[in-house]
Amino acid sequence: MVNLRDDFRLYKLAYQHDRIGKAFVDRQGRLSDANPALCGMLRLGPEELAGRTVPDLFPDLPWREPLEPLSAKCRYEPPAGEPRWLHVHLALLDDGEGDGGGSPAAGILQVEDLSAAVHLEEEIRRLKRDADTLSRAEHMLQSEKLAAAGQLAAGIAHEIRNPLTSLKGFLQLLKSGSSSAAKRDAYFTIMLEELGRIEQILGELLVLSRPSSVQYAKTRIAQLIRHVVLLLQPQAVMRGVEIAVRAISETAYIYCDENQIKQVLINIVKNGIEAMENGGTLSIEAAADQETAAIRIADQGIGIPPDKLDRLGSPFFTTKENGTGLGLTVCYRIMRNHGGRIEVESRQGEGTTFTLYLPVEGRPPDISRDDPA
Ligand SMILES: Nc1ncnc2c1ncn2[C@@H]1O[C@H](COP(=O)(O)OP(=O)(O)O)[C@@H](O)[C@H]1O
Ligand SMILES: [Mg+2]
Repeated sequence: MVNLRDDFRLYKLAYQHDRIGKAFVDRQGRLSDANPALCGMLRLGPEELAGRTVPDLFPDLPWREPLEPLSAKCRYEPPAGEPRWLHVHLALLDDGEGDGGGSPAAGILQVEDLSAAVHLEEEIRRLKRDADTLSRAEHMLQSEKLAAAGQLAAGIAHEIRNPLTSLKGFLQLLKSGSSSAAKRDAYFTIMLEELGRIEQILGELLVLSRPSSVQYAKTRIAQLIRHVVLLLQPQAVMRGVEIAVRAISETAYIYCDENQIKQVLINIVKNGIEAMENGGTLSIEAAADQETAAIRIADQGIGIPPDKLDRLGSPFFTTKENGTGLGLTVCYRIMRNHGGRIEVESRQGEGTTFTLYLPVEGRPPDISRDDPA
């Protein structure tokens, strides 16, 4: 059994070693006998704390006189360092035997440091906000993608329905058997044209869907351009357009899928020829440094009005009676897959210049991460 003196010593030791900050408080709120834990939390030495009062240390607390028990969270500004969050608890020292036997201590203050928990809470709130923002962005992206897919589908349906309707009409006419041989011939010609149009639209859409096999190889730029010119020469001649190939180094090359880049060049050169209603010169030049190759195709055609410039490449945007509006969509898509880009400059009535930039050491795209939009 412990005697009274041992008892007192033990209590005192426990008080000194308590991890909860403790001090006695008199009726005016003055502190005495602060334990080391409290001094640590408040960043004040025992002498600095002696005589300080609860309302002066914790101005946020609802302090009342005469003394009342209290238990509240409050912010504390230490003399140096970050503000801290504390839980302050004040219990009255009233053992039911009068007013504390004339002792100056009327209450005991117990303080816990909540800063770590508050920081954690803040961190969790911040993370939650970030997560919310992210999921909203993802949601928007998803609905935007859906909208784009829906637009594309609507466009395809529209584009294909027209030739189909006319095919149906001609078939009905032919079935009725009332047309002359000459008329029948004319109908067949139109029907073949309409079928050709559907074929063309589907062919271009096929390129738009994921490229199934991309074959990257070292490809000489000059040779690429020669092929394209050879292919389009007849169309150019028919329209009175001269294709002028300038300044291309025979050794300049790019790593690319030759067929796809050819397709880009064909689409753009063809657009250039089609833009020159009264003939003119379409010039092609190329240059390459260690990293980037640039191929420039300049026509002397009708030009593109500034308000139409950013519609270039949108599926089905066309100003031509027989256009599909898919040519540039395919071009942009292929160029993006090659890590390249297209720049367009145009002056109405003077002409348009398309510049293709491609990385010399291109790499096949990571198809699994390819964006279908
Ligand atoms: N070189 C150019 N000069 C003037 N307009 C152009 C040129 N290239 C493209 N365009 C405009 O962009 C539109 C879309 O081109 P494209 O995607 O190739 O489809 P399409 O040729 O079937 O119309 C064209 O209809 C035309 O209005
Ligand atoms: Mg075109």
